[in-house]
Amino acid sequence: MATPAEKAMAAGINFDLVMFEGFVHYAMIVDNLTKLKDFPIRDDDVLLCTYPKSGTHWAWEILNMIVAGKAEYAEHWQNSAWLEYRTQEELEKLASPRILHTHLRPSQLPHALWDKQCKVIYVRRNPKDCVVSSFCQFTQQIWKENCSKKQIYTGSWNDYIDLYLDEYLPSGPYFQHTIEWANISEIHEEFEICRVQYEDMKKDCVQEIRRMADYLGRQLSDRTCQEISEACSFKNLKHANENLKDQTYHFRWQNGSSGYFRKGTTGDWKNWFTVAQSDRFDKIYEKRLKEKFPY
Ligand code: A3P
Repeated sequence: MATPAEKAMAAGINFDLVMFEGFVHYAMIVDNLTKLKDFPIRDDDVLLCTYPKSGTHWAWEILNMIVAGKAEYAEHWQNSAWLEYRTQEELEKLASPRILHTHLRPSQLPHALWDKQCKVIYVRRNPKDCVVSSFCQFTQQIWKENCSKKQIYTGSWNDYIDLYLDEYLPSGPYFQHTIEWANISEIHEEFEICRVQYEDMKKDCVQEIRRMADYLGRQLSDRTCQEISEACSFKNLKHANENLKDQTYHFRWQNGSSGYFRKGTTGDWKNWFTVAQSDRFDKIYEKRLKEKFPY
């Protein structure tokens, strides 16, 4: 019987995938994932946790600015501080306070995290918009690590939704990820995390910046919050990432374009999902998460 990893590759994921701790993963990060459990977390680390395509670049830049106390772009792309992709040596070299980010589930994170004083910000987004966003990424991006030299995914949109709902994508099992983050306070009762919605950031970014700053214990003036919001608007952040930042950690897509900043809107899923696909998505969501589809 084919494993989910084998099924995902057969459906058009052009990457070496393996099963690790029950789920599909890129083979190239399994070694890192194993070592990560003992990763030395620092008390002042800030950890941004997201399911892929939930606005990680956006929130990461905002967090850097909050911690710096000014609307100044971080030198590098967020991939410089990606917990599961950078080596421990690379992460050790980052100056404190580090703004790390991850797409991992709580059970995959360093054990020491939950005993520390560090801060965890968890950002969620309508999963239908995440599916569209990741489909656009996977069908356009050719990673330099990918020996096949093909796009990450060369299958159909319909099969891609199935891979997402079956939790066969190497970007992580959506439902398991969401359930674990929803229940984290029951497992680590003392640990307080800050929950943020992409859609709320779209509605009132200044308010969400203020909320994140309060959680991080940073006093920011209204003016600084405004300036951070403006510097991190879709247009400005795209420009900064593509033109102002050091490009070492920019994993370019075809033709050097940066699809990481694609549309930056809510509800684009309506341009992609058929009614039947959307209904199916809602039903499976409700069954797995035991709540009505909230978006
Ligand atoms: P779309 O593909 O829907 O445009 P991540 O950073 O987790 O990979 O998420 C990428 C998504 O966040 C992309 O969504 C991207 O356009 C969107 N995004 C990035 N910066 C943004 C910003 N400043 N405002 C709104 N959305 C942003």
